[in-house]
Amino acid sequence: MNIVLFGPPGAGKGTQSALLVDRKQMKHISTGDLFREAMKNQTPLGVKAKSFVDAGKLVPDEIVIGMVAEVFKNLKGQSFILDGFPRTVPQADELEKMMSGMNLNIGKAVFLEVPRETLMRRLTGRRVCNSCGAVYHVDSKPTRQEGICDVCGGQVVQRKDDHQDVIGTRLEAYDKSTSPLKQYFASKGLLSEVNGLGATEEVYGRLASQIA
Ligand code: AP5
Repeated sequence: MNIVLFGPPGAGKGTQSALLVDRKQMKHISTGDLFREAMKNQTPLGVKAKSFVDAGKLVPDEIVIGMVAEVFKNLKGQSFILDGFPRTVPQADELEKMMSGMNLNIGKAVFLEVPRETLMRRLTGRRVCNSCGAVYHVDSKPTRQEGICDVCGGQVVQRKDDHQDVIGTRLEAYDKSTSPLKQYFASKGLLSEVNGLGATEEVYGRLASQIA
């Protein structure tokens, strides 16, 4: 089953996607990761996206949609998780068009529900590996050696958009542009809501039961 995994910044979309990739062999399509990779490599896409991503603003729809269309060209029949896309109603409409043109469909749109004060704690304490992208948290998932990735030995840093001043802008963008997707997917009979609070494995259990 192909799924959309959505929810506010810090809800745990990336963390849960990593488990789904590992345990259900799904393909993870994260527009945030694609932008960060493009920014790191300073590609034309990365250069266009950088000012938006660093400021916590949404990248314009036409740029995001073009990027996802490229990814879709290379799908090889594997079930996938869309993480961070769609993030606006126009993106969701485009996704529907793209998928119907390829005879594909979304089986569920899973909303990860997490209260705001928890989001702030998760985002301000998140650290990521510069090399392999592994995700840590200073309290709930610290690295064994400070600043060094357990997986690859790379440098573990704070994302620019995880600084407190930028988080506010991201949450505003979520409230204004992404939260209406709940109603959008509900009206299509695709919405499934999962409580994102609790240990990572507990959340995974709830999520996996929705997409079994
Ligand atoms: P993106 O990377 O998609 O950011 P986001 O949606 O804000 O999501 P996050 O990556 O911040 O959080 P997450 O839900 O994945 O949480 P995580 O699992 O890491 O997008 C970044 C930017 O790119 C956007 O701001 C925008 O500029 C641009 N962009 C991307 N897509 C776009 C689109 N479609 N349209 C326009 N612009 C777009 O967890 C967070 C922390 O919490 C971690 O430290 C983790 O260890 C911890 N944690 C997770 N689960 C638990 C748990 N159960 N208990 C305790 N701690 C936990």
